[in-house]
Amino acid sequence: MFSKNSIIGVIGSGAMGSGIAQVAASAGHSVIIYDNNEKALEKAQQQLTKSLNGLVEKNKITAEKKEAILKAIQFIHKLPDLATCDLVIEAIVENLEIKKTVFADLENILAKQAVIASNTSSLSITALGAAVKNPGHFIGIHFFNPATLMPLVEIIPGIATNSEVVDACKSLIDSWGKTTVMAKDTPGFIVNRVARPFYSEALRIYEEGLADIATIDWAMKDIGGFRMGPFELMDLIGHDVNYVVTETVWKQFYFDPKFKPALAQKRLLEGGFLGKKSGSGFYDYRGGALKPEAVKDEILGKMIVNRILCMLINEAADALYYQIASAEDIDLAMTKGVNYPKGLLKWADELGLAHVANTLKSLHDFYEEDRYRLSPLIKKHRVSGNGFYHV
Ligand SMILES: NC(=O)c1ccc[n+]([C@@H]2O[C@H](COP(=O)([O-])OP(=O)(O)OC[C@H]3O[C@@H](n4cnc5c(N)ncnc54)[C@H](O)[C@@H]3O)[C@@H](O)[C@H]2O)c1
Repeated sequence: MFSKNSIIGVIGSGAMGSGIAQVAASAGHSVIIYDNNEKALEKAQQQLTKSLNGLVEKNKITAEKKEAILKAIQFIHKLPDLATCDLVIEAIVENLEIKKTVFADLENILAKQAVIASNTSSLSITALGAAVKNPGHFIGIHFFNPATLMPLVEIIPGIATNSEVVDACKSLIDSWGKTTVMAKDTPGFIVNRVARPFYSEALRIYEEGLADIATIDWAMKDIGGFRMGPFELMDLIGHDVNYVVTETVWKQFYFDPKFKPALAQKRLLEGGFLGKKSGSGFYDYRGGALKPEAVKDEILGKMIVNRILCMLINEAADALYYQIASAEDIDLAMTKGVNYPKGLLKWADELGLAHVANTLKSLHDFYEEDRYRLSPLIKKHRVSGNGFYHV
């Protein structure tokens, strides 16, 4: 279906679209990128040159390669100029109705065999695919930010997507040097679902006053081995993005208490304390501000890590139980998409499922909240004595 000669279209020249265009052009494709905002297109063009110059300076690519990539990308302001594309990846504003209008217009100008993909983080692929006459050629291809650096791409078929389209998209994105995982069309797909407890359980520990933000971040990094602490990471992602993802996943799961957002984060969003980009969030990033000191108490730190990690494992187990993805893909997704030090299911086998089950049970007994219910898959494996990987 696709080859090196396939022309790749990208709609939206923002953070994600421009990165995806760079990835496709670096893999040798001709790329056409469309945005309805001329200023955004100009900015994307300038940033692409800047980013490629940086790669040349760091000897990551040659000056010739830079020129070839720049020549391969065409920036356009009219949708019909995408007509020759074999695959178009959409990365515009996260709004179901706007995206659906764009897809219906796009389908009318593309060849019959062309494929339309969405990079949406939170909308249903099946719902988006309902906008086109041929949903068999509609699919989710979800890159992570920044698309040029993050290796993971989730491939999400809608309920009507043809299997040949799925296979062709997976092979194509693999050929771009990315790590692809297959995910079912459910809220948050793999990463944005399984990662929720990293934030929400940290927020819960903080809201209860069991530890402060600096201590929780210290524990997750120094004891847990995570690259960033949850509060640093939420501040970096921005509460306008991170809170909204949490709230969207919670609502789409019919208000399942497992995914309930935290008021502490909502207040920051309401106050415009969006994190690093606005100068303050959980931490203060303004010049001269003092960074709070962590209470480096090993026993407290281990309790924090254990509670958050067991909640993450429980969610990964549920994602496997509900057939969102395979065990291998769930672990790959979390290590390649959000840089976790280990796959959560592999980690569960190392910790022992009895330990994970006991941690969840004591949280459930204490709080008497459905949020802490144990995944049926952990219960099943405990009965049979199996792990996620070894039987
Ligand atoms: N930013 C992330 O971390 C991230 C990660 C993965 C996926 N996504 C998803 O990717 C998509 C884009 O996100 P982003 O962060 O790049 O957004 P962005 O705001 O940086 O860029 C969106 C671009 O789309 C353009 N646009 C808006 N409406 C348009 C229309 N009708 N026609 C053509 N162009 C239009 C805007 O001018 C803008 O340049 C969203 O669906 C988002 O959920 C974002």
